[in-house]
Amino acid sequence: MPRPVIIDCDPGIDDCVALMVALASRNELGVEAICTVAGNVNVATCTRNVLGLLALLGRVDVPVYSGCERPMSVNPVFADHIHGENGLGSVCFPAAQTSAATEDAVDYLIRRLADSGQPPATLVIVGPSTNLATALQKAPDITAGIEQIVLMGGARREGGNITPSAEFNIYADPHAAQTVFHGGRPLTVIGLDATLQLRCSPDRMAALRAIGNAASKAAADMMEHVNAIYGEIYGTAGAAMHDPCTIAWLLAPDLFHARPVRIEVETASALTRGHTAVDYHHTDDRPANANWVDGLESDKVFALLLERIARL
Ligand code: RIB
Ligand code: CA
Repeated sequence: MPRPVIIDCDPGIDDCVALMVALASRNELGVEAICTVAGNVNVATCTRNVLGLLALLGRVDVPVYSGCERPMSVNPVFADHIHGENGLGSVCFPAAQTSAATEDAVDYLIRRLADSGQPPATLVIVGPSTNLATALQKAPDITAGIEQIVLMGGARREGGNITPSAEFNIYADPHAAQTVFHGGRPLTVIGLDATLQLRCSPDRMAALRAIGNAASKAAADMMEHVNAIYGEIYGTAGAAMHDPCTIAWLLAPDLFHARPVRIEVETASALTRGHTAVDYHHTDDRPANANWVDGLESDKVFALLLERIARL
């Protein structure tokens, strides 16, 4: 029986690859809905990108809920310098065949998670945590409808990618992240320490493109955009596949290394806004609030992504 899953995202190139892998994994993951949030690009563009991706994949059955257009407190920050103005690099998806729901993502999350007649859902968050944090603030009791949260965000050894000390998803809305990190439900956090181990090297890009379906072509074209930018910024052989790590973890957790830790988020300092203080060595006796993923079997995880994209 596939587990019910809600994906909250800011597509975003790696978000799109994560959505492809999730939608291709119908035996394991029942994607009930996709929520969008301002992050890589503005929320209207994120929503347009999801609708276009669903048209590309022929999955117009999946409802889309457009969410928060700005963070809870801080000023918005975007990542179009990485994802391009349209959020997809140089790629254009087909015209949307459906529209987003009139209900916004926060109201949807509250309605779905408060419905005791439905099974608790797994929430996958691969953008800023604004939608869920806002829903939790408006309706704290919805935690009963959350099976677990799997979140891409944060950094310990890797420091940061939007500032020297913060990863983008957390930096973009640190108050939201702190709310979700203290939401009291099982939480797995996959940060840069893990995701930067999953790079799109030239060989892997060739294998992706060799799949030869529409999804793999779109994924390869999008990743080529990010690879070029990473080359300028990081001088590396390939961009990281950040967001797909969350789906791969749900599908094959044994391919990852994790340990329970306490994570706190810096919300006050301008210099270290969004820093995730990961208490990896348990420096105090406060209880763990997250399962911190900091390693993965890169070749096997990438092979899993390819195997699923080939199903589309
Ligand atoms: O830091 C990586 C994260 O920021 C990913 O979710 C990427 O899509 C961007 O949102
Ligand atoms: Ca993202």
